[in-house]
Amino acid sequence: MTLKKLVAGNWKMNGLSSDLTEIRVIAEASRSYGQVDVALCVPAILIERASRAAPGFPIGGQDVHQFEKGAHTGCVSAQMLLDAGATLTIVGHSERREAQHETDEDVKAKAQAALGCGLSVILCVGESMKVRERGNAVTTVVEQLRRSLPVDHGEQAELAVAYEPIWAIGTGKVPTTREIAEMHDALRKLLIEAYEYAGERVRILYGGSVKPSNAEEIFRVANVDGALVGGASLKAADFMPIVAAAAAVS
Ligand code: PGA
Repeated sequence: MTLKKLVAGNWKMNGLSSDLTEIRVIAEASRSYGQVDVALCVPAILIERASRAAPGFPIGGQDVHQFEKGAHTGCVSAQMLLDAGATLTIVGHSERREAQHETDEDVKAKAQAALGCGLSVILCVGESMKVRERGNAVTTVVEQLRRSLPVDHGEQAELAVAYEPIWAIGTGKVPTTREIAEMHDALRKLLIEAYEYAGERVRILYGGSVKPSNAEEIFRVANVDGALVGGASLKAADFMPIVAAAAAVS
């Protein structure tokens, strides 16, 4: 099944008021690519201003708390993200799994909380270099996703999965297209096992050092339904050629 590609930017801890112009430029340029879904996941504090700067353009968070409200200093709930204008959120990024010690159970609860509130979710999974070198990448990542998957895949708000090998993030290193194909195929099988027919429609993004020069080759791989882009999403000049590459293979 060919799914509409999703190209989402992950701005991580980057972005100030002065960058709203860049968001506006990306939103405006994305209008020429109706065959691709484009989104930017920005720091929580920038969401409201970004949504106002680019009305109608999907703006997302980078994490969400699993609880509705309460004594969770520094955390942001799904309802708060929605209230600020977000339509989606990333959960389970490896930088949070590592630095904030988030477990698969946490990630599952976050994904469920977000989808339950009507926020679309990009759920990240990926292996370390050590795991890949031992030959355990596929079994490890499939198990990670199995334990992180929300019970329901969402209807209006949609679940997407992002395969992001930790060793490829921000390093310029990228798996071979065979390795990406093997992983995405295994993840697709798990999604179908978990959600039956609906598992065919859950988009599986690739993330990790996606740039204009490698995007098209990656998008041509079977079961690659888009990309989660970090560094190359900060500037329209880098990001829009990636969106164009997704459009070219659509
Ligand atoms: P990168 O980051 O594109 O800078 O490698 C991707 C990500 O962490 O989502």
